[in-house]
Amino acid sequence: MSMHDDIKTVLVSEEQLKAKVAELGAQISRDYAGKNLVLVSILKGSVVFMADLMRAVSIPCNIDFMVVSSYGGSNTTSSGLVKIIKDLDINLKGYDIVIVEDILDSGKTLHYLVNLLKSREPNSIEICTLFDKPERREVEVYAKYKGCDIPDAFIVGYGLDFDEKYRNLPFVGVLKPEVYGEV
Ligand code: IMP
Ligand code: MG
Repeated sequence: MSMHDDIKTVLVSEEQLKAKVAELGAQISRDYAGKNLVLVSILKGSVVFMADLMRAVSIPCNIDFMVVSSYGGSNTTSSGLVKIIKDLDINLKGYDIVIVEDILDSGKTLHYLVNLLKSREPNSIEICTLFDKPERREVEVYAKYKGCDIPDAFIVGYGLDFDEKYRNLPFVGVLKPEVYGEV
């Protein structure tokens, strides 16, 4: 059985993703020329986006990873309680940080992370999110770099999961309702 059978509609195709990521990489390369850029990937959701985005950035940069999981929520919502499973390796002092995230939903996760990383005294800090669901926002978060706004639907693929599955889909889609019903 293929994962593709569980997809109701394709929301963002591989080609569209490629174009968005190229655009974001070019923007970041322009804005951070001559700066001390570090791309901070928030795992696991941003794994695919990060791998593509870093190759779309044409200026020298560092990369680092943080593994977080939100707890107390459900399979499709986050509670805003963020558990750091793996922290960054580098000391952020003097760096210009771009946080690379898959999706901005309630905003709770990024709100928490931005405050945490700010307390480590970087030179600057901005957010690059591939997707945004503005209708769902509960906490104000400013993302300077954004791929696209999407409607209030739960999406999977290109790193995004439902119950830890579907991250390996090369496009972004909406699951058939019966798939959620099974859990
Ligand atoms: P927030 O704290 O509510 O903004 O949630 C952000 C996190 O929730 C993301 O990093 C994702 O891991 C997860 N998330 C939110 N919306 C979706 C979705 O539509 N599909 C898959 N994961 C999602
Ligand atoms: Mg997730």
